[in-house]
Amino acid sequence: GTAALHLALHSVGVKPGDEVIVPTLSFVATANAVSHCGAIPHFVDSDPETLGLDPLALREHLRANASLRDGELHNTTTGRRISAVVPMHTFGHPMQIATLIDVAKEFNLVIVEDAAESIGSYVGNAHTGTFGRCSSLSFNGNKTITTGGGGAILTNDAELAQRIRHLSTTAKMPHDYEYIHDAVAFNYRMPNINAALGCAQLSRLDDFLSAKRLLAKKYAEGFTGAGSMQFVAEPHGTTSNYWLNTIRLNKPDLSLRDELLVAARANGYMCRPAWNLLHTLPMYESSPRAKLPVAQNLWQSLINIPSSARHYLGQK
Ligand SMILES: Cc1ncc(COP(=O)(O)O)c(C=O)c1O
Repeated sequence: GTAALHLALHSVGVKPGDEVIVPTLSFVATANAVSHCGAIPHFVDSDPETLGLDPLALREHLRANASLRDGELHNTTTGRRISAVVPMHTFGHPMQIATLIDVAKEFNLVIVEDAAESIGSYVGNAHTGTFGRCSSLSFNGNKTITTGGGGAILTNDAELAQRIRHLSTTAKMPHDYEYIHDAVAFNYRMPNINAALGCAQLSRLDDFLSAKRLLAKKYAEGFTGAGSMQFVAEPHGTTSNYWLNTIRLNKPDLSLRDELLVAARANGYMCRPAWNLLHTLPMYESSPRAKLPVAQNLWQSLINIPSSARHYLGQK
């Protein structure tokens, strides 16, 4: 997944010294993929309903802090080019991609979706990861389907797909016996044995997704009327894969969050907080950022609850 996102960003033209917009509420790989390109993540805030990047807050931020010059967006404080935006579909819940597409047009930003968590999630009838110039999926062991490790890039652009395939395999030119490579490239090809596992997993995806929905439905019923917390449901107009089920405290409260985490774990329930916000990690402490109030609140409010749906497999 990380390698897929790295290659996706590289192949759409993210260059060393660029800035790339990413949500601060994400797994660290989203920002690391930007850093692997020699670029700098520029952190933005989240939407309280979808938990994904907030496109309207991004618009406000860019109108105040960036300017277009010769069709390229520049950060007016750092002077650096801002070349792309990486929305992420948090825990499988689709972010507001339609609004982000409008904002990206206004500022001439390339969209590369980090769809690592959202295989099987839809906005209307369109699958997440099909909106941007390209997108990345993760098949890590903890994901809805796995190849043991690895990922994929999705794109509807045949030429870009060809270029990405070439760059994923050391940019080796077809030749009977000579080693001719026409670019500095990567060895990011998935081994066949992992891909074979992926094919078998893919044929079971619908079953996994139905089981996940059944589990989410049980949780939604179970948490109805729970005074101080609510179950996080799929955003309006979308279908989530419910990769990770989540509850949200009605009021951000770090000590209540931690008390619940400790109590749940002491009773054998595998619960986790959301990731530490990326702009607080030591390697990203000095990265550029917008105001991040919603993400700060979400970080203090979210708890991921057990999400394996294996007991519901085969049920409708
Ligand atoms: C949002 C997000 N991006 C990227 C990745 C990276 O995927 P991988 O672990 O397959 O490298 C993950 C998951 O691990 C993720 O959750």
